[in-house]
Amino acid sequence: MRTLPLLIAAAFYAALSAIACGSAEGQADRRAAAPSAPDGMAIFKQYCVVCHGADGKMGLNGAKDLSLSTLTLDERINTISNGRKLMTPFNEVLSADEIKAVAKYTLTLKKQ
Ligand code: HEC
Repeated sequence: MRTLPLLIAAAFYAALSAIACGSAEGQADRRAAAPSAPDGMAIFKQYCVVCHGADGKMGLNGAKDLSLSTLTLDERINTISNGRKLMTPFNEVLSADEIKAVAKYTLTLKKQ
């Protein structure tokens, strides 16, 4: 049974190096590898919360309650890109991929 502590040490070392890979260097790699996967939640927090609120329900400036919205993903992408009434168009601020990501995020605010 002498090998057991060695095995534990090896597993521990493997876990440590996995954590190390998750630090700055690993993040840069991931960003380079997947430029087309923007963070919808982060975009929502940055651009949409002012009118829609963190849960999508705030409704400032007549903004629609996103938890009740029945729009499809395509309709959301369209609204976000071109704006509607007091909602500003985001096609000049966000890339198509970012708009898609944040549109997908708004679907998660929907009441189940
Ligand atoms: C300046 C305030 C404002 C900001 C900022 C804003 N919205 Fe809106 N949003 C509105 C208003 C007002 C409406 C309702 C337009 C209408 O009455 O047809 C709306 C409607 C929507 C709709 C359609 C809902 C439905 O069921 O018709 C979606 C989806 C939406 N917003 C998503 C977003 C996202 C995503 C962002 C951030 C990228 C965002 N909005 C930022 C004001 C805003």
